[in-house]
Amino acid sequence: MSRASSTKYDKRIFEYRRVICKSGLFNPLYAALSEIMMSRFQGNEPVSLLDAGCGEGSHINRIQIEINRKKSNPLMAVGIDISKEGIRIAATEYSNGIWCVADIANCPFANQQFKFILNILSPANYSEFQRVLSDNGLLIKVVPGEDYLKELRESFYEGSDKQGYSNSLTTNLFKEQFNLSGVESLRYEVNLSESLMEPLLGMTPLSWGASGERIEKVVHMNLKQVTMDFKILVGRK
Ligand SMILES: C[S@@+](CC[C@H](N)C(=O)[O-])C[C@H]1O[C@@H](n2cnc3c(N)ncnc32)[C@H](O)[C@@H]1O
Repeated sequence: MSRASSTKYDKRIFEYRRVICKSGLFNPLYAALSEIMMSRFQGNEPVSLLDAGCGEGSHINRIQIEINRKKSNPLMAVGIDISKEGIRIAATEYSNGIWCVADIANCPFANQQFKFILNILSPANYSEFQRVLSDNGLLIKVVPGEDYLKELRESFYEGSDKQGYSNSLTTNLFKEQFNLSGVESLRYEVNLSESLMEPLLGMTPLSWGASGERIEKVVHMNLKQVTMDFKILVGRK
């Protein structure tokens, strides 16, 4: 049975993520993901899309809007997450999706239901993704690039070996489980208004374990820009 579980992702983190998503920080990512999918649409076929580990639902909602602006294919978007708090926000905020509290290790769907699976900055379960993805479907996994939020990483992990980040293990695991048909790198800088600093710090696990003093220091360092850096892995069965 799929059931909710308590994780470190609480209601506040999802609220902060929603504020950050609404501010436009992820817009170039939405455009890139929508393009990858739309380039694979055939005619006017209905398209089914699963966001596995959807959090509070903003990503798939914005992607759905982006696709609907450009294509007339009927689109069914489903978001699942193990967190009740995340799904509660998604279901309250966004009426154009189907939202479900579920564990990616036990997806509550029949075999081969989805043309696309998105897995954005979230854990994966490749055997379940193999099962619920259609034969000609695509798995699209977004992992942080080495410079993702590097300004925050540098401030929180100054002088420690966590200052750097590598996604090579995740990429290798993906390649063992799916046929990698493409990799896109997406890196951009965004200007930060002062009011976004608190939600930005609050939405990321980077501050977990940091002392209150360190968090205060980072909040007040007057960061003007932040780097967004992603690697988009595209795989076939
Ligand atoms: C870093 S957050 C990313 C959420 C969202 N994709 C985003 O980018 O805003 C990771 C998400 O994975 C979810 N998660 C962790 N383990 C999971 C599991 N076994 N099944 C479903 N979701 C899970 C967490 O609840 C959290 O929402």
